[in-house]
Amino acid sequence: MSSEIPDWAKRRISPYVLSIPEYVPGKPIAEVERELGISGAIKLASNENPLGPSSRAMEAIIRNVGAAHIYPESSGPELRQSLAERYGVSPDCVVLGNGSDEIMQMLAHVFVGTDDEVIFPENSFSMYRIVTRLFGGRCVMVPLKNFGPDLKVMAAAITPRTRLLFVSNPHSPTGTIIDRSEFEDLLDATQNKGVLLILDEAYREYVEMSDCPSGIDYLEKTDHLIFLRTFSKIYGLAGLRIGYGVAKPWLIRLVNKVRPPFNVNLLAQASAIAALNDQDHVRKSREVNSRGKIFLYENLNAMGFDAIASEANFIAFRPTCDAGELYSELLKEGIIVRHLKSFGLPDYIRVTVGLDDQNTKFIEALKRVS
Ligand SMILES: Cc1ncc(COP(=O)(O)O)c(C=O)c1O
Repeated sequence: MSSEIPDWAKRRISPYVLSIPEYVPGKPIAEVERELGISGAIKLASNENPLGPSSRAMEAIIRNVGAAHIYPESSGPELRQSLAERYGVSPDCVVLGNGSDEIMQMLAHVFVGTDDEVIFPENSFSMYRIVTRLFGGRCVMVPLKNFGPDLKVMAAAITPRTRLLFVSNPHSPTGTIIDRSEFEDLLDATQNKGVLLILDEAYREYVEMSDCPSGIDYLEKTDHLIFLRTFSKIYGLAGLRIGYGVAKPWLIRLVNKVRPPFNVNLLAQASAIAALNDQDHVRKSREVNSRGKIFLYENLNAMGFDAIASEANFIAFRPTCDAGELYSELLKEGIIVRHLKSFGLPDYIRVTVGLDDQNTKFIEALKRVS
């Protein structure tokens, strides 16, 4: 059946929606196995936790599944309470989303209208662009500096039409972290400019470098900051779709106006509470990640590939051969990585750090095909 949008619909549909580039997700394992007629494929493409969820989170899912016929509590009060205690804020500073993606969309809904500007780094997570365009906003994309967001140039790009500014720390897809004093300068530069600073900390729990700034340290002193975190990465719950934002209560109240009721399902809420209470699993996940990174860097460097220093659970590298071809060859070997063409970095591949045996299989396949 034709997948073309018919002319009548093109004339009727919001031009903003039409202009949105379609999100390109990492290829699912089942699809690759089906297409290539293979089994045992490994997905190192979407920065998921290779250890899976904590056993406590899985128990919570089983305990709660019998209540699946009941709507969840709309705003997730118990989880918001747990998060509030963790950060030393009140629960009305916390909003839950169906993934942190959804919170980005809700923030754009609140702030962005036709021709409003949203600033973010040129090579970054595609949702920044998608949520901006969805509401008719203009994307102001600032080139990276040393593979990270160029905070000075981003601040200088602010105009009276700027509504939002996205910074990810660590940055995706490169894994770099931002400098504390540069971040503080950005906070100062954006103060009283009518701009909301969205600090995307999806990979923050993986950071081992000691002086990396965190949104929570600045929340009290500022009025224009929200930080976003997720249970999809180190907490291993990507399949349940749950993330959260922390900000001053006035902003959370506004976000709640556009939040669909029951946006976060019952099992996601229950498992996230359990996952938060299992910090041993988080520590173990961090250890597996650090060990995997050392192994991957050693091998990528030995093969002569430029690998960007990452504080997250993935490594972006520039192969000496064509990155698109390398991606396809790895796929044939049953190894799914991410070609960074859709991030505007066509010469780079990003690999998620896996379990030891997955990392070994990836490197062996890389040696065979490159
Ligand atoms: C930088 C960044 N932010 C946010 C997300 C989305 O996380 P979630 O699964 O909570 O929607 C991702 C997911 O890959 C990401 O890379």
